[in-house]
Amino acid sequence: MFDLRPYIAQYVFNIFLVTTVGIQGIAHKDRLDILHKQKELFKDAYSKVIKPWLRLNWIFSLTENRKQICIAERTVLDFIYNISPRKPRNYTTLQYNNYNMTIFQKLKPIFNNYWDRVEHIRANVSNKSCDVSDENFLDDIRNFFAAIQNTVTETTSFIMLMLAIYTDVQEKLRQEILVTFNNDKVDAQRLLSMRYLYMVFQETLRLFPITPIISRQLTGDIKLESCTLPEGCYVMIPTFAIHRNPAYWYKPLEFIPERFSSTRHRYTYIPFGMGLRDCLGQKYAFLSVATIIVNLLRRFRFVTVGNLSDVKTTTDIVLRPRHVKISISRI
Ligand code: HEM
Repeated sequence: MFDLRPYIAQYVFNIFLVTTVGIQGIAHKDRLDILHKQKELFKDAYSKVIKPWLRLNWIFSLTENRKQICIAERTVLDFIYNISPRKPRNYTTLQYNNYNMTIFQKLKPIFNNYWDRVEHIRANVSNKSCDVSDENFLDDIRNFFAAIQNTVTETTSFIMLMLAIYTDVQEKLRQEILVTFNNDKVDAQRLLSMRYLYMVFQETLRLFPITPIISRQLTGDIKLESCTLPEGCYVMIPTFAIHRNPAYWYKPLEFIPERFSSTRHRYTYIPFGMGLRDCLGQKYAFLSVATIIVNLLRRFRFVTVGNLSDVKTTTDIVLRPRHVKISISRI
């Protein structure tokens, strides 16, 4: 048995590089510290949610891990700066973090990555206010890195655990993969047509919504039966609890992908949030996760010991499995 998670993280890292700036990362082991640094930043952000006084700079500057977090911030930013095809002039990288572009290969463009699209828009708009500045571009890539790396890695990890526990589901999915692709390379259109894979994806995010809580600030009073929530207050929406509530879900603690073949109340299932500020990366997330799952399942079989109740999790900004200990055999 070995932990599959670092390999999934490497795969996701490469997907991020190809789709945002069009380069293929050679995710060398000694370069993967960037992924640990990114995770440290999420942990730090979470600690500032549960201990709000740490948001005051003078208090944070007294804490032990302040230096570690500063280094993590600079390391991630330097990395993003180095891979970015557009570089703000007033930014200088730190010498010790100079991720050299020679570790990356330029790919023949097979589809438009984010950079291509932004350049295309810039070339075709005459209105200067629509322009994307170098600073904005760098900021986008940094945000995408954080959003993609953490969410896609953890969702794929949870799915792989489920498939290794429920080997009958794994086999059914393998059949769907065979029927859909035979030996062809994956493509977005066919991935989107895979109904069973989508059910497995949904059911995994029901049991393990990787954003277990979302929040809103009220823009007006909300009258409930027992009280009124006043304008301006913050409301936490417990996605994890809603997804496991027996009032909405039949056998809520069991993994049953088929339950997603029928409809349900739209607010009982909210892994990507809801409304105007819901997740803008939903389709990207599914396509990335699906690409990895299909490529793994058509080559290998996976098993693990234990069952659903043995899956241990940790939480910072996202919910993560503690590990993905799995046995693997070639098909
Ligand atoms: C399975 C993977 C993912 C899950 C479960 C997820 C979940 C969420 C959730 C719950 C929110 C908050 C929505 C709300 O408050 O109503 C959110 C927001 C967001 N997500 Fe995701 N996300 C995932 C992947 C991604 C990816 C891959 C990207 C980028 C490509 C992304 C970009 C964003 C952005 C930019 C927002 C903020 C949207 C806004 O405030 O308008 N997410 N996501």
